[in-house]
Amino acid sequence: MEMNIIHNLLPLLFFVLASVLKFTNCYGDIAEYDEYFQKRAKDALEDSINAYNPNPEEITEQFNEQVGEALITGNVTRRHLKEGECKATNPIDRCWRCNPNWARNRKKLADCSRGFGRHTTGGRNGLYYVVNDPSDDDMQNPKPGTLRHAVIQNKPLWIIFKYNMVIKLQQELIFNSDKTIDGRGVEVQIAHGAGITLQFVKNIIIHNIKIHHIVPASGGLIRDAVDHFGLRTISDGDGISIFGASNIWIDHVSLSNCTDGLIDAIMASTAITISNCKFNNHNDVMLLGANDDHSEDVIMQTTVAFNRFGKGLVQRMPRCRWGFFHVVNNDYSQWQMYAIGGSAHPTIISQGNRFKASDHPFTKQVTKREKAGESEWMNWQWRSEGDKFSNGAFFVESGPPIKHTINYPLKHKNLMKFRPGSYAGRLTRYAGALKCRVDQPC
Ligand SMILES: *[C@@H]1O[C@H](CO)[C@@H](O)[C@H](O)[C@H]1NC(C)=O
Ligand SMILES: *[C@@H]1O[C@H](CO)[C@@H](O)[C@H](O)[C@H]1NC(C)=O
Repeated sequence: MEMNIIHNLLPLLFFVLASVLKFTNCYGDIAEYDEYFQKRAKDALEDSINAYNPNPEEITEQFNEQVGEALITGNVTRRHLKEGECKATNPIDRCWRCNPNWARNRKKLADCSRGFGRHTTGGRNGLYYVVNDPSDDDMQNPKPGTLRHAVIQNKPLWIIFKYNMVIKLQQELIFNSDKTIDGRGVEVQIAHGAGITLQFVKNIIIHNIKIHHIVPASGGLIRDAVDHFGLRTISDGDGISIFGASNIWIDHVSLSNCTDGLIDAIMASTAITISNCKFNNHNDVMLLGANDDHSEDVIMQTTVAFNRFGKGLVQRMPRCRWGFFHVVNNDYSQWQMYAIGGSAHPTIISQGNRFKASDHPFTKQVTKREKAGESEWMNWQWRSEGDKFSNGAFFVESGPPIKHTINYPLKHKNLMKFRPGSYAGRLTRYAGALKCRVDQPC
């Protein structure tokens, strides 16, 4: 590491480490904070600090360049593709979807993450695990063949599913590190029960499943690793709860109608990409940082890209605190209160999104600042570049302009700094869980 980077990081590290005490006192859903979980919390914080990037603009610029490259080399800047041409438009999808042999090369997906979660490889270095049993009956000794048995293993696993299935979780599904959930080729729903918990873990891919109607569960003794179980309190009913975790990639997941958030990331979670997802029918969509006092969230870095925020959504797409958030090339078709909001001086880089407001006259503003007067929030960096607005939508900017770090000219003469919102429709057309058929491009 270069000296000046270390120099820049020192105050931050001090800041973050100073909050470790507070951090380990905050139990989350853990009722009994035993030695095992204390160690897991400490290791996870170290992983988060290591995953943090002191030059986030390099990652946002690299991301935008990759979008441009995919559109040009894929010839998808043309509106009408010829029959048989691969329809994948964005760099994540182009990385795997055009290959008719995707099912024999599933782990290729581990090369495809982009943005802050780009190093996420999930279970690539492990064996395949085939879930062939949708039941979830034993929280302490889950049956082999169930999803719960798969995610608690202490080694990397690439988890696939034998049949279409609806999994109703009796309690929150607590992951161990280094896992991929790969629902391609079948329809997997996690629904009508508890949700997914990624607590003090790293390196998780969740891909191509549907999560809906998640409800609170009572807690109790739940196994969270092969060699450990602990006492949990009630779970809130989040779709996916990311707690003190790093290198998380959520791609092509359809999420709707959960009791709490659809996706929450809190407590120094970082290196997260949420891409190609479809969100519907929900109030609090995405919470990135839960509390203005959780200064450890200053290391939270998240890419929110190629998602479709559809009908029936109210607010928090996302709602941000403290960290650095790249919200890029998403499609917002309406919101009932606001789309992007936050407090505690987060940095929000909004590029190439399409924002269509609803017809209600008082909800045209994309942005919402909370718990700060204008004299304070005018210094927060919330910038919009190339966003496309319709039906009266508008973004209130603040803070310094976006730092562009790439030196021009770029490799291709028609590359732009980022793809404008007029491309958002094409880039998000296949958002949500895909119906992939074996032996065909997906
Ligand atoms: C893109 O279009 C050009 C010109 O039509 C063609 O030569 C090239 O093979 C196409 N590339 C792909 C990846 O389809
Ligand atoms: C969520 O689902 C429940 C039960 O099906 C329904 O009553 C409720 O209106 C739905 N909420 C939203 C926001 O769509």
